[in-house]
Amino acid sequence: MTATAREIGERPDRRRGPLRWIKRILPRSLFARSLLILLTPVILAQMVATFVFYDRHWETMIDRLAFAVAGEIAFVIEEIELDASAAERSDTIARVARTTDLIVTLEPGARLPAERQRFVGMLETTLADALAKKVRRPFTINTRIAHEWYEVRVQLADGVLRVLSPERRLFSPTTYIFILWMIGSALVLIGVAILFMRNQIRPIRRLAEAADRLGKGREVKDFRPEGASEVRKAAAAFLVMRDRIQRQLVQRTEMLAGVSHDLRTPLTRMKLQMAMMGDGPDLEALRADVAEMETMVEGYLAFARGEGGESTVPTDLGRLIGDLLADARREGAEVEATVPDGLVLDVRPNALRRGLANLVANAVRYAGRCWVTARRYGPVVEIHVDDDGPGIAPEMREEVFRPFFRLEESRNHDTGGAGLGLAIARDVVRGHGGDLVLEASPRGGLRATIRLPM
Ligand SMILES: Nc1ncnc2c1ncn2[C@@H]1O[C@H](COP(=O)(O)OP(=O)(O)OP(=O)(O)O)[C@@H](O)[C@H]1O
Ligand SMILES: [Mg+2]
Repeated sequence: MTATAREIGERPDRRRGPLRWIKRILPRSLFARSLLILLTPVILAQMVATFVFYDRHWETMIDRLAFAVAGEIAFVIEEIELDASAAERSDTIARVARTTDLIVTLEPGARLPAERQRFVGMLETTLADALAKKVRRPFTINTRIAHEWYEVRVQLADGVLRVLSPERRLFSPTTYIFILWMIGSALVLIGVAILFMRNQIRPIRRLAEAADRLGKGREVKDFRPEGASEVRKAAAAFLVMRDRIQRQLVQRTEMLAGVSHDLRTPLTRMKLQMAMMGDGPDLEALRADVAEMETMVEGYLAFARGEGGESTVPTDLGRLIGDLLADARREGAEVEATVPDGLVLDVRPNALRRGLANLVANAVRYAGRCWVTARRYGPVVEIHVDDDGPGIAPEMREEVFRPFFRLEESRNHDTGGAGLGLAIARDVVRGHGGDLVLEASPRGGLRATIRLPM
């Protein structure tokens, strides 16, 4: 599996239908998701409460208030129609002005327009309903007559009665305060939730970052497990795991170094003894075997020595590869590099350099020319080492990574390697959380591809 495919979260979602759509709409971060989980029911409950309030309370209120206004108007009309003279009428109107907050005027002889008015809005329709039931005469309503006032005109037998009433007779403006409180309390709730969530998410985020760093072979500093008990438990377990992995790494290299070192002494003794034994065909073969063992032991020792204690630092890949190839050119190799400027990566520079040097050395040794290219693909840096040599058959491309494994041709050609180069290179790259694979090169030979996470 390549480093690219391993990037969790970058994986395409293969689900079909509405589920996939919901997943695509939903936020990705834990913070946003938990906020959503917390706030959705609250906001839904508030919406239901507002709706019920409007439907039951607000409408009923307006209904009743409209009936009260319509009743008053009907009462005024009846009083006026009972009056015989104009004087009595103005007396009634004066009485209405004293006892109610309606402003009533008479327009003798006036007529309302013949066509029926169309009522719009809840206020007009509710009032029209009430007037139709109580007054039972043609009427018009004008809610835009003045600010916070509305006008009702009713057709009487000998004129038009004009009634001005304040809007507060029909509904209470304080109702809006209810809505404001709803929105205000929701905002306060969101603020409090964000504060609490932040504190809960921070330890999880830190744990994720630490795990990511460990996966990429970078240094993970000690941190104090914090937050909810589950998160604290996971963080503590993570720290124990980190210690165990580091201990194992150290143990492995120490053992490798120890074994290789101790093998050197008997090997040197054997060589000395053989030198004193003189010449002969059997001894010649023995000498070759001892020499091979020596190369192997030296290779192991070099690997084990370099491994210990190097820490990751931001490294300019262009500079690192440039230095490496300059060394190779001095030894007469034909190498070319294409690396973009400013490709900086957190790596153990000496280890990575050794890994790359092994690949370049192979290309130079088994082919003739070598091309090194580096590129960044999103979260991954890819380094190709291409050559124009014989390449490696597809079925052998995993085998050659085994320590001390060498293909037959190279044994015959007396190219003198231990067979550790590729094993060491892959070990180094995997220690950085990446991978090393072999492919066919567009240049005709072998392509070694290093993938490193950013
Ligand atoms: N670029 C290449 N082209 C063809 N064959 C290769 C190439 N690179 C490696 N090989 C084959 O893979 C084998 C293993 O390579 P590896 O680098 O691990 O060991 P080595 O080169 O033989 O020895 P060392 O690198 O330890 O000096 C080689 O012996 C060689 O047969
Ligand atoms: Mg090699």
